[in-house]
Amino acid sequence: MRMKNKYRKPNTLRWNAGSRCSLLVWSLVGFLVMLYLYTFIHDTNVKNEEHQMHISHHLQFRELEEVEEENLQIPAPRGKRSPRADKRRPRKVHTSLIDEFLDESSKLRRIFFPDETTAIDPMNGTGNDTSCYYPGRMWLDTEGNPIQAHGGGILYDEKTETYYWYGEFKDGPTYHAHKRGAARVDVIGVGCYSSKDLWIWKNEGIVLAAEEKNETHDLHKLNVLERPKVIYNNMTGKYVMWMHIDDVNYTKASVGVAISNSPTGPFNYLYSKRPHGFDSRDMTIFKDDDGVAYLIYSSEDNSELHIGPLNEEYLDVTNIMRRILVGQHREAPALFKHQGTYYMITSGCTGWAPNEALAHAAESIMGPWETIGNPCVGGNKIFQQTTFFSQGTFVLPLPGFPGSFIVMADRWNPADLRDSRYVWLPLTVGGRVDEPLQYSFGFPLWSRVSIYWHKKWRLPRRWGVKES
Ligand code: DGJ
Repeated sequence: MRMKNKYRKPNTLRWNAGSRCSLLVWSLVGFLVMLYLYTFIHDTNVKNEEHQMHISHHLQFRELEEVEEENLQIPAPRGKRSPRADKRRPRKVHTSLIDEFLDESSKLRRIFFPDETTAIDPMNGTGNDTSCYYPGRMWLDTEGNPIQAHGGGILYDEKTETYYWYGEFKDGPTYHAHKRGAARVDVIGVGCYSSKDLWIWKNEGIVLAAEEKNETHDLHKLNVLERPKVIYNNMTGKYVMWMHIDDVNYTKASVGVAISNSPTGPFNYLYSKRPHGFDSRDMTIFKDDDGVAYLIYSSEDNSELHIGPLNEEYLDVTNIMRRILVGQHREAPALFKHQGTYYMITSGCTGWAPNEALAHAAESIMGPWETIGNPCVGGNKIFQQTTFFSQGTFVLPLPGFPGSFIVMADRWNPADLRDSRYVWLPLTVGGRVDEPLQYSFGFPLWSRVSIYWHKKWRLPRRWGVKES
């Protein structure tokens, strides 16, 4: 006979409470899993759609995405090598080839720094070579002189429908200020070149000149002026230049600001400062679609980047700043945007010696930023691990080809900095998706950023034609 358990009710009650509680927990878990799956599938679909769009937009760009190989043999170690090359030895792999690259007396030198007989000379362009980029070759302006616009960037000026390329004018002797100092050239100023087609460049002169006499001036020739970038302020109608200002030992670690009424200058130097009170070395500026501009700089002894909006006139930073890529030791930031996502290419920190580039992505420009990986494709392993023996400086969107860009990089020549070369290559966003190297909540998949190696390439025929 079953006995009625007088304690049953309370027990049942307790069981019900427990089961309700676990039901609640499981429902919550289920809900979160569904939410995650939804976000994941949605995200993947969006990226796939982007991929499809990318493919249909880039049929003419496709030949630039073909991988070109390089067959460079690593030479056997030699007994005697330049003591300077030894000092600059980076810590990473393939040191022997990087040493050869840095060694002025190396037989391989001609491969990386071909002489003037192979210079790109648009004024004497013949047949097949017309409009062709040859990364690493000398590049002559319309007067037949090598272009001097290192660590530079490009502004497209709507008013004159002209591209302006600004960069370090380094046409002076390279020397070492002291035994352990980096190779340097005295400051001459910021060079500016204009072009309608991104291939033929006219020298517009030095738009911000060094100060010869006043030793206390930021622009005194014995200081450092690097990585100048110019943007246009629609509100004030001024062209604003930001640059890295330093002393010979790189201890001032500041940004400088200059302003002009015309893209071809002269620029009026305003002041320098440590932005947000922090040391600032390699830097860039980025103007967003909504007109807000940002300063991005390597800080805390290059261990992290800082990003913050400029004020409305673009003449100063505001007090908003975020630390990004903390502990990653990146420099040479170059920002660009595609379909609402922000991307950035950075380099490692090895002085003038080349190192591996990384691509980063963010949904919001103020972060969080995630590191996607090395964007370099083609060449060979060492080409990819050295950013094709160069260091990025700017990424220029290619009008008429959404998702296609030109990446501008410097192949520094520390033995003779004025003879540093330009490595311009096609960069695309799209194709297969990439998982970030560092995960944050949400596991987003980023479109792949690829920089394709080419010994020779040209822009697609109808570039610049706006889509209707
Ligand atoms: C690497 C930087 O990216 C360059 O702009 C320059 O500052 C060199 N270091 C100096 O060694």
